[in-house]
Amino acid sequence: MTTFLSGIQPSGRPHLGNYFGALRQHVAASRKAGEHFYFIADYHSLTTVSDADELRDSVRDLAATYLAIGLDPERAILFQQSRVPEVCEITWLLSCVTGMGLLERAHSYKDKVARGIKPSVGLFTYPILMSADIIAYDADVVPVGKDQVQHVEMAQDMVTHFNTRYGDVFKRPEYRLAENATMHKVLGLDGEKMSKSYGNDIWMFESGKKLKKRVGQIVTDSRPPEEPKDPDGLFLFDLLALFLEPSELGEWKEKVRVGGEGAPGYGHLKLRLMEAIEEHFTEARARYSELMADPAELDRLLTRGAERARERAVRVRDRAYAACGLR
Ligand code: TRP
Repeated sequence: MTTFLSGIQPSGRPHLGNYFGALRQHVAASRKAGEHFYFIADYHSLTTVSDADELRDSVRDLAATYLAIGLDPERAILFQQSRVPEVCEITWLLSCVTGMGLLERAHSYKDKVARGIKPSVGLFTYPILMSADIIAYDADVVPVGKDQVQHVEMAQDMVTHFNTRYGDVFKRPEYRLAENATMHKVLGLDGEKMSKSYGNDIWMFESGKKLKKRVGQIVTDSRPPEEPKDPDGLFLFDLLALFLEPSELGEWKEKVRVGGEGAPGYGHLKLRLMEAIEEHFTEARARYSELMADPAELDRLLTRGAERARERAVRVRDRAYAACGLR
């Protein structure tokens, strides 16, 4: 049986980039035959989030969002990373077989430092914790976005190093990218990669006036509607492409390309985007509100998920401890 596993960091409310780049892919994967682990990577969030209430809220938000978009907690084990402390024990074992050079090559670390984040040791060793996440459940397949591929490759390296030293202890994971390549990079309000830390994100369940305001902030230029334009040079269309049928998208693009009287202006396009976002998440938004209104139920689900996840992690930890002489 194939074991699928993936996780996502809780940091604020999940935005469209999180949805198209990760969450949606996880839910789709969870419907395949096999065993499924999906978790909320709160230990990882400590590398960037320092407000306790914010972290607690983000964890609840992410759990409710996963469930709202259709993750079935019976089929898939949904849990909070920190409720399975064995991953920290496995992290240490991996730390002792991982060279500094491997971590120094991590793109994600280098990017964060380049963006001005003052690196802690935790940020530096982030890929080891992530590898432990994968290894602790004997995962075979890790559905991820492109930005996480290198991290999974590092996990493969760590497994090789550990197993070379101690025998066949850990399973070697493979990554799996989403089939639809356009989903790999969702652009934010300013045309850069959508990211909470850039402040250019749109919350998945935003609606009404707030959504209108947010979509209104998508950066365009001041060319008039009648001026013919190359639609492929407008990133507003990249956002529309996430929601519209190809035929409708094609019609809008053609009108913009031709220009002239009656051609849609940026305002029209934004209005269409706004409607499309609201419509796409109608059901999920309602379910999300119900879940958020029942914290006891959410907690019950997360407790149950953690129990199931922990059973596996304890077994793997014991196996690894025995192999390296700690037992
Ligand atoms: N680093 C991932 C992200 O930022 C989250 C993550 C943590 C993860 N541990 C993982 C993803 C293990 C896959 C497998 O999106």
